[in-house]
Amino acid sequence: MKKTEQPKPFNRRAFLETAGYGAATLMLWPFISSCDGQSSNTASPVVNPDFRPDIDLELSAVEREIPILSGSKTKAWVFEGSVIKGDKEALQTTEGSYLGPTIKVKKGQKIRIRFQNTIPEETIVHWHGMHVTSENDGHPKDVIHSGETYIYEYEVMNRAGTYWYHPHPHGRTGPQVYNGLAGLLLVTDEEEEQLNLPQGEFDRPIVIQDRSFDEDNQLVYIQSRMDSMRGFLGEQILINGTAEKVLNLKSGCAYRLRLLNGSNSRIYKLAWEDGSPITVIGIDGSLLSVPKELPYLMLGPAKRADVWLDLTDKPEGTRLTMKNASFPLEVMSGGMMMDGGETSLPQGSEYEVFTVKTTSSGSNEYSLPQQLVKSNYLDPSTAENLNNPRQFSFAMDHMDWTINGRTWETTGVVDEETVKLGSTEVWELINSSSMMGNNRGGGMMGNGGMMGGDDGMMSGGMMGNMMQMPHPVHIHQVQFNILERDVSDVDPQLWEAIKEGFINEGWQDTVLLMPGMKAKVIMEFKDFKGLFVYHCHNLEHEDMGMMRNFKIT
Ligand code: C2O
Ligand code: CU
Ligand code: CU
Repeated sequence: MKKTEQPKPFNRRAFLETAGYGAATLMLWPFISSCDGQSSNTASPVVNPDFRPDIDLELSAVEREIPILSGSKTKAWVFEGSVIKGDKEALQTTEGSYLGPTIKVKKGQKIRIRFQNTIPEETIVHWHGMHVTSENDGHPKDVIHSGETYIYEYEVMNRAGTYWYHPHPHGRTGPQVYNGLAGLLLVTDEEEEQLNLPQGEFDRPIVIQDRSFDEDNQLVYIQSRMDSMRGFLGEQILINGTAEKVLNLKSGCAYRLRLLNGSNSRIYKLAWEDGSPITVIGIDGSLLSVPKELPYLMLGPAKRADVWLDLTDKPEGTRLTMKNASFPLEVMSGGMMMDGGETSLPQGSEYEVFTVKTTSSGSNEYSLPQQLVKSNYLDPSTAENLNNPRQFSFAMDHMDWTINGRTWETTGVVDEETVKLGSTEVWELINSSSMMGNNRGGGMMGNGGMMGGDDGMMSGGMMGNMMQMPHPVHIHQVQFNILERDVSDVDPQLWEAIKEGFINEGWQDTVLLMPGMKAKVIMEFKDFKGLFVYHCHNLEHEDMGMMRNFKIT
């Protein structure tokens, strides 16, 4: 039974344990005077009576038992929601799934979300890809305890696109998402509406995740140190939070498939098994200006792609499988393989992801527009630092996952992470775990000293250099344009197998950096000052500290 019929009175937030709460909290709790009052936190555990939401939602993180496999139900943590005020269609639930409800909003709408935490640990919800203030962003410093409520109130300022939401407590994002806490957040706008894209039953979410279960159907997470260094890889693929991987669609119809890679660390190289190209119409936070056909699509963790599927001339009974095509990603080189990190579904192996089956026929009048949205991309010449981009290097350093040598600090931020409100900047995001030479700081293996270090153990630095890991890099608060990818340090054999699967167009918030890859992204810091995070979206890397703040001043 849900006990969320009525908005509950607020509970106090967890500000005693965590520094950095701001002015509004102090006003509510004037008797707590030891907090530093310097951040501009205006979110509060009570609703703001002056904020008039178009949609007022309640969302709870709860423990549930979900029938995922046949036999025992699976214990999961799930988001459940209800609409307090506004269009009831704003929340759409999938039966028998652990995924949270899909939230559907329109640009310009004001939404309030009363988030209640009832799982037995701290959490906070982040709206991935959304352009919101710091206090509405689900920053790890804003975690709330079990039993507490956090109120989000913001106007939807994003373009039409496929966004999502998930927890963001430091150190526990991986297990919380793994246990089921995630959902889609779909934004539409006028420009999109004019395109007459497939809607309702023809607009299908496809959330791809990998999970492992024990004999009693319970979720199994990290089993070894290697699992956590590499990132979790599950033994089976789930679609939309269920084991049902066949989508029953109608022949004679066209569909919009909203793919989300909601996996903790798995990378997909998606390809239709019959060899037909994948038609991508949107990526992350935007539609593309024109549809793009790819032989296969690389989809790193947290990335979304909207795909056009035309079943108009597929007879009833057709089966179309989306598979993962293979690519050679060797995580460790030099003969050191990771032990304990084995999975029956290795990264880069070939397997089925989902299957579309035409079980009935119908017709709809959707046709693929040749022109989608105006691109309005940022003009590189407006960037303050086009020829001298900020560089952020993602690497392992002494067994820690780091960004420019630093690891997570709750509110810590340095000069090179501070940007000006109103500025447009280029950032160069670098995966420096390359075996191809040119590694920052030198120290490549080539000297044969694999067993270096004081006592015959591998030293952290060695380990770091030996470990080639993809890093899907995500920046909060913005949508960026990708200016270029430098692949000169990427293993040519790997690059050859994946190079046609990347999309640089569109407005994106996450960029998959394969080992050795560098990407230049351009973005504008607008509307809101404050503290936001950027991080690797391999959730195990993120939890181990591959996350930093950046500050807009
Ligand atoms: Cu999808 Cu900081 O996260
Ligand atoms: Cu995000
Ligand atoms: Cu990473």
